[in-house]
Amino acid sequence: MESILTLEQLHHNLIMGPGYEGYAQLIKAIDLPRESYGSLCRWSDERYQRIRFFDTDSLEGLMTCWKPGQSSSIHTYEHAIGWLKVLEGQIDWEHFSPEAHGATPTYQKTFTTGEIGFLNDDLGFHRFVNRGPEPTAMLLLYADKIKQWRSYDPKTGKIAEETVTVDFNLDPDHQG
Ligand SMILES: [Fe+2]
Repeated sequence: MESILTLEQLHHNLIMGPGYEGYAQLIKAIDLPRESYGSLCRWSDERYQRIRFFDTDSLEGLMTCWKPGQSSSIHTYEHAIGWLKVLEGQIDWEHFSPEAHGATPTYQKTFTTGEIGFLNDDLGFHRFVNRGPEPTAMLLLYADKIKQWRSYDPKTGKIAEETVTVDFNLDPDHQG
């Protein structure tokens, strides 16, 4: 697949769907320079930011922005699969085992700038955390769109249904 160098090209490729090569090849082809993806980035001192730039029921595209130390909740996907690419900085992927009342990860992997990853529901409970010294921008594609997940609080041991929200919706076709 041809390299994807602009947001317009990315939007076009996402509209075209997985095609013969699939989303794994699509995410591999993403080679956006910072001046191209930077317009999607939003950082906050409060928490990591989820910025939706492609919004359909069958595919959701998110930019996620993490200041050093920021993490997601520990959650599962409800049958969705996903692909990630780190555009700048690094991100740690950690697995947890609520059955063992685990507050410490059972598995950990670091993705650095340019690396891609595949996510599916078999992962079970997991979270992302930026343990690096710099802010991190990570692109995520989810099929289907993630509307709900289960989250796990290791402090209380409780598992809860959580509606998944975004901080910004920048899809030009689906504002609001
Ligand atoms: Fe996740």
